[in-house]
This record gives sequence, structure tokens and C-alpha cells, in this order.
Amino acid sequence: MKNSVIIGAQWGDEGKGKIVDLLTPQYDCVVRFQGGHNAGHTLVVNGKKTILHLIPSGILHPSTTCVIAGGVVVNLAALFEEVDKLANAGVADIESRLKISYLCQLILPSHIALDKAREQHLAKSAIGTTGRGIGPTYEDKIVRRGLRITDLFAADLDERLQRLVDYHNYLLEHYYKQQPIEVATILEECLAVREKIAPLCCDVPLFLAELNRKGHSILYEGAQGALLDIEHGTYPYVTSSNTLAGGVVTSAGVAMQSVTEIIGIAKAYTTRVGAGPFVTELHDDIGALIAKRGHEYGSTTGRPRRCGWLDLPALKRVAMLNGITAWSLTKLDVLDTLAEIQVCVAYRLNGQEYSIMPDDLGRFDQIEPIYETFPGWQQETMGLTDWQQLPQAATHFIDYIVTATGVPIDSISTGPERAHVIKCKS
Ligand code: GDP
Ligand code: IMO
Ligand code: MG
Repeated sequence: MKNSVIIGAQWGDEGKGKIVDLLTPQYDCVVRFQGGHNAGHTLVVNGKKTILHLIPSGILHPSTTCVIAGGVVVNLAALFEEVDKLANAGVADIESRLKISYLCQLILPSHIALDKAREQHLAKSAIGTTGRGIGPTYEDKIVRRGLRITDLFAADLDERLQRLVDYHNYLLEHYYKQQPIEVATILEECLAVREKIAPLCCDVPLFLAELNRKGHSILYEGAQGALLDIEHGTYPYVTSSNTLAGGVVTSAGVAMQSVTEIIGIAKAYTTRVGAGPFVTELHDDIGALIAKRGHEYGSTTGRPRRCGWLDLPALKRVAMLNGITAWSLTKLDVLDTLAEIQVCVAYRLNGQEYSIMPDDLGRFDQIEPIYETFPGWQQETMGLTDWQQLPQAATHFIDYIVTATGVPIDSISTGPERAHVIKCKS
């Protein structure tokens, strides 16, 4: 029996969805444990692309149960839109395989309006959120003002909703000078989805404990990336949830000692969407080439992703914070045409060298990456499935990452397709 966690090791979009889909046959159940429909996880199977936002990336495997745990913030309209889209694409028995925690916080239209109003108000200092209401919903959770799925079944739902939306509208109208949101419309929407969500609702911690008791294996799917963690990420340019592996135990309500492995998904380079520090960012033709070859446009918002070299000081910190037991290195093929590949091996911060990213980059005025240059392989690796087929320059680059981070590599992804992968035990 295994309980594995998959997290993004950079700023998101590392290819988590692809790897979760690939590994799903080894598990009975896949659990999303944080974030919301700000995520965009892409699966490509036999040329057919599926982008998932809330539904766990195990859903394409017909015998897998998919669970949305309590730490996820849920926009029910978006959830059912996703269910319908999948069903129309031929995915079978979605609703009988999908379970959702009663404890998930609800994202309301007024959260979305607040998210957008706040970003507008921040102007040049905007975070670059996905505009999905994620921050305001987690904020309401922490101050104990939010509504959960369980509240949809409360007799006084209308009063609770009125209280919450009144508060949102006060902010929208008087602080942000925006139009208020009609409470009656939100209530109508809530009542409309209540009957649909009821059969999916589940006591998730109890369900997962029972699975483990029967010897079944569980795969926990992270969203976003470790450097977007609310606590340890590049605050305030982060998302509002705990994206680290530790989030699994608080969100899903499972025992810490039940986790058996933690896989960090890292691209062979780095990308980031939205604002915030990015030490190895490239503003030149190579950055543009990586963006083009990697199709680096957001799966959720379509925004272009900022691109840069692999950042080992950041990966070392992420390995430390999560206890990463293995990396899955993705998008190696994107680097195929480069004559030289740079890897950041340390930072020079205010004149001092750091081999591991410090807890807060904001303390430093001058941040400079120190690079080691590797020869490129200039050979196609797209679609390779065997380590022996990799060019020597590529294995040298990969071995360097393993040695520098002290973490072995479990798999190398060589293309977007499910089958484009090299399994390795280094
Ligand atoms: P996630 O949010 O971590 O699941 O990642 P996204 O789906 O947002 O972004 C990853 C993108 O890269 C998607 O378009 C994938 O289809 C694609 N992808 C994943 N792995 C590879 C790979 O090894 N090579 C290439 N070329 N594309 C990949
Ligand atoms: P996946 O799961 C990349 C970023 C946003 C913004 C910041 C805060 O596909 O890797 P939010 O809407 O969460 O309040 O935005 O976080 N962000 C992501 N970047 N991939 C994601 O998800 C992201 N989800 C949020 O761009 O910088
Ligand atoms: Mg994504």
C-alpha cells in the first residue's frame, strides 16, 4: 500500500497533471488537496487533450475514484461545467467516481468580484491572480466567515449567505467603488446546485482512512507549486493555500505517517505566470524560444508564462521544505535545440553567495544568479521512453541535478503525451 504525494516544485505548470494521470493505475484513488479552479492540469492521451481545473487528474482511468478534499475551495458552477465537458468528451461514470468533502469552502460570485477589484486597486503592484476568487475565499475561511458545502444544507442558508454577501458588497461598493452582487441570484444558484452536489458529498478523512485500512493506495495531487505556497513561497506573490506536501495532512485529514513518498515535479527549466521575483528569468531570444517550444501559455487564463533557466537553489529549498523523495523532471525535450544550457547553481544576494534559496527574497536588493553552463544535446528527445536512448549531454545534465539536489529522479517526461516518459531509478 502506498500513499504518494505529487507537488509542483516551482511556480506551477510543471506538468503535474500529466504525471498524476500516468501514475494513476498504481493507485485506487486520486485526491486533490488544495487550491481551486485556478489550477489548469493538462493530460494528453492519444492526441486528445483534456484540461482539468478542479477534478483530479486520475479521472480518465475508469476504475479510479477521484476525491476533492476539504482544503480545496470550490466554485460549484465551474465544477459542474467541468463534469459536463468531460462527460461530453466520453469520460464515463464521472459522478459515481467523484467525491467531495462537505468541508470545502464555496467560491461565490462576490469572491470573484472582490478578487478582480483588489487586483485592479493594486494596479502596478497587482499579484496577477487568475481572477477566480481564490484569495478572498481562503481569507473568509481563515476569519471564519466563509460558507462550506455543508452549509448548503443548513435551514438558515439564506441568512448566512445574506450576511456574507452583505459584507462583500460593502467592500465592493464603498472601498472598491464597484457594483454590488445580487444576493438573491447567488442564493438561487446555490439552491440549484444543492441537489446535484448532495450525492457526491462525503466525509473525506473517514473515506480515505477506510481505503487505507483495506490496503488501498492513494495518490494526492497538488496544484500550483511550492514557490507559490502562502507560507513559504515568494510572498505576497503567491496563491492563498498551502501548496507544500504538508497541506495533504491538514486538508485531507490524514495521518502524517501515512505518507510514503513525495514526488516533486520540476521542469527542466523554470516558468512563472503572474508577478513576483524570478531569479533566473530570461528576457532574451532564448527565453522566447523556450516559451515557443514549450507552448508556455497558461492552461487556465491563456496568459504567456515567463520563462527562465533551471534554478537549483530554489529546487534545493523545495526538496528541504517538502522532504521530496524523488523528482519527476518534465519538458526535457523543450531544450533539445539549444547549443548551451545554463543552470543556476547559486545566488549572489547583496554580495554574498547562497547555494540554497533563502526564506525571503524581499530582504535583498540585489539578486544575481550564478550559472554553470552545460553543452546542449541538439538532438531530438521528444517521445523517448528509454534512458539508454538519451544523448550523453542530456544524461550529464540530469545526473548533475540529482547530485546537486541530493534527490533521485523517478521519471523524465519527454513530451505531452501520456506515453512520452522515461522511467528511471537513479
Ligand atoms: P500542471 O499545471 O503542472 O499540470 O501543468 P500544465 O498542464 O499547466 O502545463 C504543462 C504543459 O506542458 C501542458 O501543456 C502539458 O501538456 C505539457 N507537457 C507536460 N509534460 C511535457 C513534456 O515532457 N514535454 C512537453 N513538450 N510538454 C509537456
Ligand atoms: P497549476 O495547478 C501557475 C498563480 C497566479 C498568480 C498567483 C495567485 O496549473 O500549476 P491565485 O488566482 O491563485 O490567487 O493567483 O498564483 N497561479 C498559478 N500559476 N499555475 C497554477 O496552477 C496557478 N494557480 C495560481 O498566476 O501569480
Ligand atoms: Mg497548470
